[in-house]
Amino acid sequence: MHDCQNVAALFHSRVLQTPNSEAFRYPVENRWESLTWQQTRDRVQDISGGLLALGLQPEERCAILSGTCIDWILADLGILCASGATTTIYPSNTAPECAFILSDSGTRFVFAESDEQVAKLQQVRGDIPKVEKVIVFQGTPSQDEWVITLEQLSQKGRGQFLSRSFEDVTKDVTKDKLATLIYTSGTTGHPKGVELLHDCWIYESEGIAALNLLRYDDLQYLWLPLAHSFGKVLQMAQLRIGFATAVDGRPDKLVDNLAVIRPTFVAAVPRIFEKIYAKMVSGAKEKGGWRQKVFNWAMKVGRQVSRLQQEGKRPGLLLSMKHYLASRLVFSKLHGLFGGRLRFFVSGSAPLSASLNEFFHAAGVIIYEGYGLTETSAATFVNFPGHNRIGTVGSALPGTEVKLAEGDSEILIKGRGVMRAYHNQPEMTAETFDSEGYLKTGDIGTLEDGFLRITDRKKDLIKTSGGKYVAPQALEAQLKMACPQISQVLVHGNNRNFCSCLVALDPAALKSWATQNGLTNISYEELTRNEKVREMMQGVIETLNKTLPSYETLKKFAILPADLTLEAGDLTPSLKLKRKAVEAKYKDLLDSFYTGGKD
Ligand SMILES: Nc1ncnc2c1ncn2[C@@H]1O[C@H](COP(=O)(O)OP(=O)(O)OP(=O)(O)O)[C@@H](O)[C@H]1O
Ligand SMILES: [Mg+2]
Repeated sequence: MHDCQNVAALFHSRVLQTPNSEAFRYPVENRWESLTWQQTRDRVQDISGGLLALGLQPEERCAILSGTCIDWILADLGILCASGATTTIYPSNTAPECAFILSDSGTRFVFAESDEQVAKLQQVRGDIPKVEKVIVFQGTPSQDEWVITLEQLSQKGRGQFLSRSFEDVTKDVTKDKLATLIYTSGTTGHPKGVELLHDCWIYESEGIAALNLLRYDDLQYLWLPLAHSFGKVLQMAQLRIGFATAVDGRPDKLVDNLAVIRPTFVAAVPRIFEKIYAKMVSGAKEKGGWRQKVFNWAMKVGRQVSRLQQEGKRPGLLLSMKHYLASRLVFSKLHGLFGGRLRFFVSGSAPLSASLNEFFHAAGVIIYEGYGLTETSAATFVNFPGHNRIGTVGSALPGTEVKLAEGDSEILIKGRGVMRAYHNQPEMTAETFDSEGYLKTGDIGTLEDGFLRITDRKKDLIKTSGGKYVAPQALEAQLKMACPQISQVLVHGNNRNFCSCLVALDPAALKSWATQNGLTNISYEELTRNEKVREMMQGVIETLNKTLPSYETLKKFAILPADLTLEAGDLTPSLKLKRKAVEAKYKDLLDSFYTGGKD
């Protein structure tokens, strides 16, 4: 396996090593079905054969427009094992966004999840003349055969390998060939096509395997969007290490599925941990009385133990006994929620606040935070067992070089995981690398004994008109911890004479708070305008302000009439706040903060 030069070889090698082990588990109506590695190979072979029959050329892009599901994985492997390159589109992308990616990537063949996704392509068909075929996972073929089903493609593929070996198709695909064209999240502007080579994924898979974080006997629960590099890198780790993965991308199934699958590890984005935290804290408050007291006591004990553990110390006898009791009374319920076998979570794609991570650590739930960019094939820094420092994103994968730019401390990265280029963007590519070939990440941070701490994104730093810099992410994280009713918060203040913020409230947490405070039968929208809610928020902000230097204090705020969502274009598919989009949407409101002459 060490000499695999491309992803297809990594897959073939996995099949050869453990043909009869479970590879994937996936939902079919109300039950779960499984595929062994050998069965996976047979399905993939037909898909590759079908693509070759359609005339797919080496390194030619095939797009997948789908949520996370077993067919996504089979299609991706089918493309790679036919020497093609996968490009990814989120199901939440609009029809024009799909058209942009399909044209920009030069795609001829597109896999689509459903008739609903195909309808988007039909809508922009005139703008995507290069697209010859759409292959729908679960849907109907079109009369003119522009759309065919996955089954029809697989039928075309059968018989392709009667006279030659399937494994031979990719024998000339060297490690410097294109494997994936992933578009960035679009947090800061238009998504950019990132060219990742086979070697990027081989490197990532080897690097992760070397950490001893994931094991062959693990069972992963995968629901992250596979169109994002974080989801993709987990797939590569799976091929290298060989653990089984249960796949279901529907977020509303997460809680139910965890109880059934009982995974040993799950990767997630910070917003998920924030939601669990909000639910736990408001759940305890709702119960009130002695139960809330027991919860608070258990968390206090948990925190004491967590602190000692972080310092490498053991708790004394009395504290150990208290901790045992806290585990039995409170923490075991939380563990039960995750299925009871979970070894740890992995968090990535956006900052996880240190106090949130500490909260989970106190309850015995381990979250290993990692950091990377689409441009670096996702997992560039990671914490792992025996090497976990909360508040940092861990240290670099072996072989990746990192340094901080002089002056602004921008994180600069060089290594085999780094992209070849931005697709069709030579100028932007040139600007993104420094003279020594380091990728300029756009993030700023500090390094302590090799552990990286991310301060913020360089472009998100707020320079107030007084010339002071404010890092908004840190303030936003503190507000979210202080007030579980907050779903998103945006700190604003660039070129303004003071900072302010926009707050969006989580509908479920707000409802629970409202009930406890005697505000029943009031709609979400009315609550956002309610005086008591505003007073509560005012209190949270004033408490934070007392801890801040004057130029960082939030002098004005507004509660937004609606939550910020992916559907409304406020968040990226990995649930990151699109600052510019939100600031533009609420421009008048923000401007109104600064017209009264307050400073
Ligand atoms: N653990 C983390 N802590 C802080 N920030 C993180 C972490 N992991 C990822 N990030 C942020 O996510 C960025 C990489 O995300 P991704 O490549 O998905 O697209 P994006 O940068 O959000 O979008 P775009 O480049 O289109 O604006 C990093 O540059 C960093 O700002
Ligand atoms: Mg980026």
